[in-house]
Amino acid sequence: MRIDLPAAADTFELGRALGRLLRAGDLVLLTGPLGAGKTVLAQGIGAGLGVTGPVVSPTFVIARVHRGGRLPLVHADAYRLGSVAEVDDLDLDADLADSVTVVEWGGGLVERLADAHLAIRLERAESGEDRTAVLCPSGGTWPERIAALVSSPRVNAVSSPR
Ligand SMILES: Nc1ncnc2c1ncn2[C@@H]1O[C@H](COP(=O)(O)OP(=O)(O)OP(=O)(O)O)[C@@H](O)[C@H]1O
Ligand SMILES: [Mg+2]
Repeated sequence: MRIDLPAAADTFELGRALGRLLRAGDLVLLTGPLGAGKTVLAQGIGAGLGVTGPVVSPTFVIARVHRGGRLPLVHADAYRLGSVAEVDDLDLDADLADSVTVVEWGGGLVERLADAHLAIRLERAESGEDRTAVLCPSGGTWPERIAALVSSPRVNAVSSPR
């Protein structure tokens, strides 16, 4: 499932639409190169959940918990976790089962934190603002929920599923 994201606002809005349908215990993995827009997408997710306070890059703190929204948002940067440490070893002041967990660079590292997950790969051209989100729902109710998301009028510029 691919979604065209011509500008940063489109990436934010995709995150916001996703944030509205997230449930407690959900795990969302954001992968893609430096500057691909993973944090922008996480910011949109925070907006969709209604969290208070800015969702900034967690790069220097590894993980942050954002409260005040419908569900707590755990925003982590697995790039700094390395291969051994795991998000659930971080002693976060939040229970992942009661929260939404969004991990940047989490591909291949943190999938086993939950039975099911949504992976979103952000691709970018060498120059320009164009990005493409590749949505990979895995397990649980993710396939149905993503089908609903991409048919929602809030997510525009959706190219045909493939
Ligand atoms: N279509 C787009 N989607 C997302 N961001 C875009 C887009 N076009 C331009 N940008 C810009 O690209 C940058 C993306 O930065 P962001 O911090 O979200 O990337 P990242 O993937 O989290 O990087 P890092 O690997 O350093 O964590 C922002 O400055 C944003 O404004
Ligand atoms: Mg980032």
